[in-house]
Amino acid sequence: MTGSSGLQLGSVVIVGASLAGLNAAEALRRAGFDGTVTLIGAEKHLPYDRPPLSKQVLAGDWTPDRVELTDHDELADLEVEARLGAAAQSLDLGARELTLVDGATVGFDGLIIATGARCRTLAAAEGLAGVHVLRSLDDCLVLRADFDASPQRVVVVGAGFIGAEVAATARRRGLQVTLVEALANPLSRVLGDEMGRVCAELHRDHGVDLRTGVGVADLVGEGRVRQVALTDGKTIEADVVVVGIGVTPSTEWLAGAGLDLADGVLCDESCAAAESVTAAGDVARWPNRLFGETMRVEHWDNAAQQGAHAARRLLDPGVGPFAPVPWFWSDQYDRKIQLAGRVRPDDEVRVVSGSLQERRFTAIYGRQGRITGVLGFNRPRQVMRYRTMIEQQAAFDEALAVAAEL
Ligand code: NAI
Repeated sequence: MTGSSGLQLGSVVIVGASLAGLNAAEALRRAGFDGTVTLIGAEKHLPYDRPPLSKQVLAGDWTPDRVELTDHDELADLEVEARLGAAAQSLDLGARELTLVDGATVGFDGLIIATGARCRTLAAAEGLAGVHVLRSLDDCLVLRADFDASPQRVVVVGAGFIGAEVAATARRRGLQVTLVEALANPLSRVLGDEMGRVCAELHRDHGVDLRTGVGVADLVGEGRVRQVALTDGKTIEADVVVVGIGVTPSTEWLAGAGLDLADGVLCDESCAAAESVTAAGDVARWPNRLFGETMRVEHWDNAAQQGAHAARRLLDPGVGPFAPVPWFWSDQYDRKIQLAGRVRPDDEVRVVSGSLQERRFTAIYGRQGRITGVLGFNRPRQVMRYRTMIEQQAAFDEALAVAAEL
């Protein structure tokens, strides 16, 4: 099949066997690609779904097999060869070949990079049992085993997505939780401060001891963590610590390959990173023309859509730009929080329906006369309605007028 440069592509290798990688493989076949497709994954597991890891699986409501996104039979039907448990270690673009950690080399005509991101951690966590990150299924099962032992005190560091969801799940399990966030409010990096305050109240009302505007100075313990020392001089007793302080794109294996790797793999607006090389998911940074901004998006929906787009682009240079409205949801307690758009902390925010006190509302964000985002607490239909307006680059006033009609 003809590739992005008009070359014949006989083989495509996808590095990263998670949501973006799997969607890429499926999209290649849907587009009629009949060459070989190899899916390379660092983990030994077949592609699985991550959102339930901080919720249903950690809560103990789901067995781990429920997160599987595919199985060996489906991959065989797609004629996709999965090479699992063997991370890519280096890439030679000139030779069109990559090397795996086990020393094997894999040649390709086309390459899709979908290696995602890995958790940042705290240097003080080194060698201390009871300190966790949560990204993979294995991370989740180790943390769940620690929760099963009914620890007295759980400390969650970072009130972003992982921290907020893990805190909610731990409270549901009846555990005592302290949530430590460096910024003024939970999730304020993505929602802004005003809406971050609503999240703060949500957690406090569910019994979380929320400490904001403070970081972690040290983790104390011999062999196993015993205390978290904060930068304000206070200490918190801890049997289990979960660190959710953000992620770093997994690009180490691409060092020296000639790609721009500043905060992810830089792509053009169609997701092409080099000749017959595309990238997708948490690892990809690209100019999203809808927002006039180069972005890297760390959400489920983006991984799924961009994986498929990167595959189509590899086969057809005529495939246009990738310009979606980023969108995510987060389940915390009995609230489904959804945000669509691209919000900055200083955007104007207006609650257009419902009530902040009841934490059941829709708010829209605007900047320079244009709607930039919509946030819903238990308001899925309204979020989708405004998401369309964001896609249409509607004026903020127009969005407010729609709100008045509703
Ligand atoms: P995050 O970037 O969402 O949040 C990290 C938080 O930690 C920030 O609020 C930051 O201010 C805080 N922080 C950083 N250093 C700190 C320190 N030393 N002490 C205290 N606070 C500190 O990253 P997070 O939560 O680790 O999530 C990782 C990834 O997983 C993200 O890419 C996220 O998109 C994804 N994810 C998405 C979910 C969803 O969409 N519902 C759910 C869970 C994870």
